Amino acid sequence: MNKLTECILNKNSSLTPIWFMRQAGRYLPEFREIRQKNQNFIKLCLNPDLVTDITLQPMKRFSLDAAIIFSDILMIPYGLNQEVEFKKNFGPKLGSLDIDKIININNKEFIKKLSPVYEGIRKVKNKIENQDLIGFVGAPWTLLVYMMNRESPKKNFDINYINKDKSKSNKILKKIEETICLHVDKQIEAGANVIQIFDSWAGLLPSKELENYCYIPNLKIVEHIKKSKIPVICFPKGIKNNYENFCSVVKPDCISIDYEIDPNWIKNKANGITIQGGMDPKILLTEKENIKKNVEKFITIFSDYPYIFNLGHGVMPETRPEMIEYVIKIIREKKR
Ligand code: CP3
Repeated sequence: MNKLTECILNKNSSLTPIWFMRQAGRYLPEFREIRQKNQNFIKLCLNPDLVTDITLQPMKRFSLDAAIIFSDILMIPYGLNQEVEFKKNFGPKLGSLDIDKIININNKEFIKKLSPVYEGIRKVKNKIENQDLIGFVGAPWTLLVYMMNRESPKKNFDINYINKDKSKSNKILKKIEETICLHVDKQIEAGANVIQIFDSWAGLLPSKELENYCYIPNLKIVEHIKKSKIPVICFPKGIKNNYENFCSVVKPDCISIDYEIDPNWIKNKANGITIQGGMDPKILLTEKENIKKNVEKFITIFSDYPYIFNLGHGVMPETRPEMIEYVIKIIREKKR
């Protein structure tokens, strides 16, 4: 077993596997160079050769324990024939949502549209040996938010819009859940040997809605993935002390914590589930001394607990690549 799977499945606390969310991304000059020449982000995600190159960019620079396939959670709405566009300085913009059209898309059509993603995974798998390959999906709630809100909910979101027409939301949610399972299966078949579920907007939900829109939908996907005997990491970002309930209801193999979670608190609440991440990505924009202090804090807290080093969200575009290298060096000097 490679280090990431060993830490997740065998709860081995003597190793600290390292990878970073958004490890392939805009903080890397070599990524920006490819991105510059490929203005259409969806098309870029559908180019297996470039997907392979971009996925491997951080693997070439740094000593990381896992590759995460270069893709996006919004490839699912794209595969369901909702238009998806990434606008500069705005983020994703989605087209109108025609429920009947979406519900009638069959698996074969979806797989055909996303087949370059799976081809990219196959290519990457052939090029790595001692590292794990992470496939990923957005969680049902987070995808529902993007599909119904049609843009990031950061500035503009009203939960009543989703609650107003429950039968409409539930119909889409069901289709999203089925499609997520399909997309996961195809990624596993192509060579992904760990899956991460990103519930990036779980924090928008009031506590009383978490069960319905966050825990149960995540549980369905987790149970589906467990059937394939593939480890699953959940990232229900922003749900604060409800991380405890999430762990006891959903029981993922690994829980990824965001930067608002106290690592000492979660260690006592996660019931032995492997913990990942936590350090605020903004720390990497500060000076080395402060970075070292914070990395050591996490390593010390989790010295006797199965822990994967990662951040509490993605690497920020402003991050200097040498700081990623520095973090890895600090950890490797202390641990395997
Ligand atoms: O982590 C990795 O290196 C793998 C690649 C990856 C991307 N997106 C590439 C990407 C992963 C795992 C994602 C997941 C994703 N996508 C999430 C969940 C994680 C999170 O950040 O909360 C979400 C919410 C999205 C949707 C999305 N994609 C947004 C909101 C944006 C635009 C805003 C932003 O952060 O740039 C994207 C674009 C995107 N996806 C980029 C990358 C490298 C930037 C594209 C660019 O160059 O403009």
